[in-house]
Amino acid sequence: MMIQIPDVLDAARLAEVRALIDAADWIDGNATSGHQSALAKRNLQLPEDSGAARRAGAIILDALGRVPLFIAAALPLKIFPPLFNSYEGGQGFDVHVDNAVRIQRGTDFRIRSDLSATLFLEDPQAYDGGELVVEGQFGAQAVKLPAGHMILYPASSLHKVEPVTRGRRIASFFWIQSMVRDGEARRSLFELDTAIQTIAQDRGQTDPAIIQLTGVYHNLLRRWADS
Ligand code: NI
Repeated sequence: MMIQIPDVLDAARLAEVRALIDAADWIDGNATSGHQSALAKRNLQLPEDSGAARRAGAIILDALGRVPLFIAAALPLKIFPPLFNSYEGGQGFDVHVDNAVRIQRGTDFRIRSDLSATLFLEDPQAYDGGELVVEGQFGAQAVKLPAGHMILYPASSLHKVEPVTRGRRIASFFWIQSMVRDGEARRSLFELDTAIQTIAQDRGQTDPAIIQLTGVYHNLLRRWADS
């Protein structure tokens, strides 16, 4: 399931994140790559242990915690501290898969990557190319979102970033370990949750059928979730 999460960052938070990372020192993006993706990747990245990346990442994590759509769709258990990359002058990232397990350098923090996230941090009019292309069950989908918006997609997907031929594409990217490992189970929970919320708008949260369905949702989550 690919899902767009709009307005993760409002204008003020976006400006704060950009001020932090624009002033930082960027390095060759291959610092964080696995062997296979190192061959495919041409970009710049903030070092994982950079203070700017940590502060900007904290702003993003704080913002994400307030986005109900993200919580409902991802059912997050652990989130990798956000990383930041930049593409310009023809840079891109050829087709690759993300590592299944990510370990935060210098710590014992590790996650299984169930979901990959890209949070766009530049106005799409400011650059050409730079689409994130994700191959899914129904073909490839190209994504280029307004600054502050995020795309969530299965970390198992083949994906690439098209070369940036004008301007500069800046984004944050990170991985999520979901409480619900199975993508189909997670999707069913999300669809059930969405339907309950829609019906509850007409009938109210205290409607007996809504209460019963909410119980079903939580009982399924209890069956399937690790915490
Ligand atoms: Ni990737």
